[in-house]
Amino acid sequence: MYISTRGGEKLTASKAILKGLACDGGLFLPESIKKLNLDDKYFDKSYLEIAKDVFSLFLDDFTEEEIDYCINGAYNKENFANCFTKLASFNNLSFLELYHGPTLAFKDMALTILPFLIEVAKKKNNVNDKSLILVATSGDTGGAALSSFMKNDAFDTVVLYPDGGVSEIQEKQMLYYTNERTHAYAIKGNFDDCQSFVKSVFASYPKDNGILLSSANSINIGRLVPQIIYYVYAYCKLVKNGTLNKGEDFAICVPTGNFGDIFAGYLASLIGVPISKFICASNVNNVLTDFFKTGVYDKNREFKKSNSPAMDILISSNLERLVFMATGNDGARVKELMQSLNETGKYSLTQSEMQNLSNFDASFTNEEDTIKAIKKAYEELGYLIDPHTAVAYDCYNKLKINQKTLIVSTASPFKFPYTMAKALNLPSDKSEFEIIKDIATFSKVKIPYGIKKLEKCKKKTILKTKQDILDIVTYSTNKYEVIVPCSSANLGCSFDCSGVALSLYNSFYFEKSEKDQVEYGTVENNLMLKAYKIAFEKSGKPYIPVKITQGKNEVPSARGLGSSSTCIVAGVVGANLMLKNYFKKQELLEIMTEIEGHPDNVAPAFLGGFVTSCMAGGNVFTVKNHVSPKLAIYALIPDFELSTKKARGVLPETIPLKDAIHNLCRSAITAEAFLKGDMQMIKAVFDDKIHQPARFPLIKGSQKIIEIMKEKGYAVAISGAGSTLLAVGLKNNDEVSSMNIDGVKWTVKKLRVDDKGATFKKC
Ligand code: HSE
Repeated sequence: MYISTRGGEKLTASKAILKGLACDGGLFLPESIKKLNLDDKYFDKSYLEIAKDVFSLFLDDFTEEEIDYCINGAYNKENFANCFTKLASFNNLSFLELYHGPTLAFKDMALTILPFLIEVAKKKNNVNDKSLILVATSGDTGGAALSSFMKNDAFDTVVLYPDGGVSEIQEKQMLYYTNERTHAYAIKGNFDDCQSFVKSVFASYPKDNGILLSSANSINIGRLVPQIIYYVYAYCKLVKNGTLNKGEDFAICVPTGNFGDIFAGYLASLIGVPISKFICASNVNNVLTDFFKTGVYDKNREFKKSNSPAMDILISSNLERLVFMATGNDGARVKELMQSLNETGKYSLTQSEMQNLSNFDASFTNEEDTIKAIKKAYEELGYLIDPHTAVAYDCYNKLKINQKTLIVSTASPFKFPYTMAKALNLPSDKSEFEIIKDIATFSKVKIPYGIKKLEKCKKKTILKTKQDILDIVTYSTNKYEVIVPCSSANLGCSFDCSGVALSLYNSFYFEKSEKDQVEYGTVENNLMLKAYKIAFEKSGKPYIPVKITQGKNEVPSARGLGSSSTCIVAGVVGANLMLKNYFKKQELLEIMTEIEGHPDNVAPAFLGGFVTSCMAGGNVFTVKNHVSPKLAIYALIPDFELSTKKARGVLPETIPLKDAIHNLCRSAITAEAFLKGDMQMIKAVFDDKIHQPARFPLIKGSQKIIEIMKEKGYAVAISGAGSTLLAVGLKNNDEVSSMNIDGVKWTVKKLRVDDKGATFKKC
């Protein structure tokens, strides 16, 4: 069981993971801690085996299968392509590299698994609410949280970072991992402001909001426990590489900000890893150094921006856990101390309490010495370390530690190019990416892929006020505009299975209302309202009446451009917004498909791009492709409607085998034809034997148009069920303009492929 450091609560591991912070504001800690059986055989264990042991000790109510599920989901090749950690040993000093995960920082070790831990914890406790992860970051946590939670669309994630308080690479990394569910926002202030704000949101979050608010900061035990694994693993490896004897004690020296990483080391010692000294290394924000030297924690000091920004912190949240232990697990005493921190910005421990922390030592490093330490490590050890690790290395040297020591190397040096360039005497008047290339050439260390891929990221800082953030995380908006592109299905042979989203848009406003109201038709027969209601029914949540009005109206109806799909997609998306983003993307697609009957229009309208889809056993499978920029796409829209009912009514009941095969093989290469922009292939795949022969006669003048367009180099197919014709050619073909043929007026629209699909705006 887990208890709160402020004495107020006692619950299971899964509940502690779900809550993050206890109701009394305290942090969770295990009530009792068992030991690992570190016998002779133990040292051969793999990272995954050790992970399983550690989780079994700490996650008291998780089954073996649940632990396996979490481990396999996180600790795999996708997240850790080359290794989990690496150990670099130089006689009595070793560095534990914890930056081989997706975002190249130690946080990946825990954050990759946190979504799985929360997912399992929710299931165990029958929690069906949507999960929202709210994170304050001083640099690295943000990227790691976004990259991990982005992979699981059961979560919405909002990361807050101090504007100008993180490196460019860190900011790019966060922004790279943003999408419609994962957001990174800058707010004015420093990290402590971000963290205090996040804590205040947790404290005041409306209970009946239908959203489970969780944290990914190291205040959550789901963050802390995975960090214990690498201390056990490092110990085993240090024994295996001959640095340590079995059972021999050693020191750890940890660059420290929020006190999570070093505290995980402390927990590792409690389960049997022979760590006898804990060196807390700080930068110029040296509040922890003073605390360990004097017993007084005093945050009343100037906050300084340093070249080790992840440690620019004056309120180290996890220290509360150590303080709790120092007081002999006295929740009331901790409550008093934390109240004092709140009211006066400081608290003091008694001498006897400090006595319990005698195996902690601390030091700090200024900017200049951080740079010198990077240089020293490179010159003396031939080893590249980042500024945070350099802080630890400098503290280790300053304290003249004469014990075997493990320094925790928390981030890739490539994440901090300017500081690295300064230390290595490389020119720093260049862009971060140019400097990164210089560092790689100079040090002969390969640039990690996680950095390389950021170079093309063009996303920009989004600055928000605290009120904006409150609105976002509580979904306090009552009105949304949902914007949906039109779509052209079939594309010849891919009847009922492929479609492309194109740049004509319908948009609709959804507003909470006393009773249902629609602008067109009646509440009984309105397709969008029907879709809205079905989505609500599927959620099992209380219904919210809505007023639906039209915004943009660019998609002509009954012309084969997916106008009814725009209604279905908008209705379902609108319901999901009122449900505070309750459904996963895939679930939304399945609801839309069920309403439409087949996914060929709804899938591209919802997902954007060129989408091939199929339904199987109640599932919808989709493959999204891009369309070659070489292609010019025209919709030729006649001035008459053709109802889908009529166009489906003329379809043959059966088709000859050879026609089926003709269509099958062309359908299979349709996506490829568009991806390549290969006109020969496109002509082939437009030559359909299933629906077009029956439908062309319904579209007056279609044969003439096809001849005209063929001469200009275009291939023509019926768009959806018609009556629009879709003409595809190369961009250097002749332009096409509106025309009159045999009394039918054809409006010609040159369109782009829409890659975004359905989007929404708050109003
Ligand atoms: N594939 C469908 C058809 C599109 O051609 O009938 C219209 O829903």
